[in-house]
Amino acid sequence: MTLRVVLRCETGYFGAAQLLAESLQIPLLSSEPVSSESVSHDRAALAAIDFELWLGSAGLALRELSVAQDHGRARHKNTRKEKPSADIRCDFVAGELRHRRLYGGGKNQMILKATGLNKHKPSIMDLTAGLGRDSYVLATAGAQVTMFERQPVVAALLADGLRRLCGAGDEQELAIAQRLCLHQGDSLDCAAALAEQAPPDVIYLDPMFPERGKTAKVKKAMAFFHHLVGSDDDAAALLPLALATARYRVVVKRPRHAPPLADMKPGLCFEGKSTRFDVYPLKKMP
Ligand SMILES: C[S@@+](CC[C@H](N)C(=O)[O-])C[C@H]1O[C@@H](n2cnc3c(N)ncnc32)[C@H](O)[C@@H]1O
Repeated sequence: MTLRVVLRCETGYFGAAQLLAESLQIPLLSSEPVSSESVSHDRAALAAIDFELWLGSAGLALRELSVAQDHGRARHKNTRKEKPSADIRCDFVAGELRHRRLYGGGKNQMILKATGLNKHKPSIMDLTAGLGRDSYVLATAGAQVTMFERQPVVAALLADGLRRLCGAGDEQELAIAQRLCLHQGDSLDCAAALAEQAPPDVIYLDPMFPERGKTAKVKKAMAFFHHLVGSDDDAAALLPLALATARYRVVVKRPRHAPPLADMKPGLCFEGKSTRFDVYPLKKMP
């Protein structure tokens, strides 16, 4: 299914928005927010829009426009007077990820044990980067992380988050940003070629999985993300690629009760409340 995304921007961001719209090949609309007049003026055109990207002083944000089916015809409902769905943005500088960096579980975090970062400083390839949250945690613990993201809008949000991390003016944050490198593209197509030059110690996978999370809040956020990226139906193909490419181990993040990726039994598991990390060891890390 092709998703229809438009870009709007704050005054003063038109140049940057033009470049972004060109690279994403999406329309750049006026910098005015969607209004009830414009909705009634061009209801048919607006009904076709699934997502709106917004570029401004706070960076890039994505909003899912509320669309309802009316007698088989899509009808646009987001007039900004109604409560829009929460924005998605990539924020490494404030909020939850900053809090986790400063006060989080340190080396005891399951993701660090699973990737070996509690004892080593491996180089890592994240073949399913998404909004880069896991990669950020890995880089914060000292790993050099190469990320791949194939959904262009998600990759743009991630690139924007990295840009703001670089410009945050904090030495520690700059060092983390310098350990994160993003490739926009399908890792199934390009990871092996890149790994030929520098094989990663560890490969990390976190493909989309249906029905993740239990609370209404998580479900809503995930449903939004799911609508944008789909279900990663080809995810099973990532594991053989990862096993043939990594030097020491492959780590797969799964919902706790999900079957293992590609039905391949891992050598080791780290289980949390809702998430599990399946580890496929290849060689002992030196
Ligand atoms: C569940 S999200 C990853 C979330 C991520 N671990 C985080 O912490 O933000 C899965 C992401 O992997 C991406 N993806 C899936 N298969 C991919 C592939 N073969 N190449 C690149 N990206 C892929 C999807 O587009 C989606 O954004």
